[in-house]
Amino acid sequence: MSEHIKRVYSLYAWIYDAFFGKIFEHGRYVAFRMMDIKPHESILEVGVGTGLSLPLYPRTSRVVGIDVSKDMLDKAAAKKDHYKLSNVELYTMDATSMAFADNTFDKVFASHVITVVPEPLKVLNEIKRVCKKNGEIFVLNYTGCNNPIISRFEKFISPLRDKLGLGKHVDLDELLKSAHLSIESERRVNFLEMCRLVRCKNS
Ligand SMILES: C[S@@+](CC[C@H](N)C(=O)[O-])C[C@H]1O[C@@H](n2cnc3c(N)ncnc32)[C@H](O)[C@@H]1O
Repeated sequence: MSEHIKRVYSLYAWIYDAFFGKIFEHGRYVAFRMMDIKPHESILEVGVGTGLSLPLYPRTSRVVGIDVSKDMLDKAAAKKDHYKLSNVELYTMDATSMAFADNTFDKVFASHVITVVPEPLKVLNEIKRVCKKNGEIFVLNYTGCNNPIISRFEKFISPLRDKLGLGKHVDLDELLKSAHLSIESERRVNFLEMCRLVRCKNS
């Protein structure tokens, strides 16, 4: 199931920050402004990867990061130590079946992970389950730009991107609809506004 993802991300772990750190930086900062985390809120970051976002969380919030790739999580753990983030917990866990009780987190952040997982709807349903009722779910993902030519090319190379573990083409609106999530607000972010950041209420 996630064996392929685990394999590719154990390779990417060593170069991830150098490659994607800057490329996705703008989206990360906008996401944190949109999340507007209040003191003592509990946050789950699904597919936390190397933990690029971890230093941005307020130290007063409980932050739980999960990922299937131990190598990516090892990098996140190094950041937790480096920045002395005692409010952060990290677990090796599959987002399609999480070991958290229902209604646990005030906010859930899924950054560049929904298009990577083989079963995105299952992940969204799990996110809804562990997020408190009326909590908020934030999904940030590469969705392609509005230019029709570039967009056609992106769809064409989508199977290759999928093989490389870099995500496949996903119709985010359809996916959210299937998960019975409606968008409360959204922003286009990153280079050429190729990524969408959406905020949904877990009603
Ligand atoms: C493109 S990286 C994004 C990392 C980080 N969220 C960021 O924005 O930089 C995708 C991450 O999702 C993780 N992942 C993929 N499938 C997963 C699953 N089923 N459960 C948990 N994490 C998963 C990968 O291991 C990888 O670390």
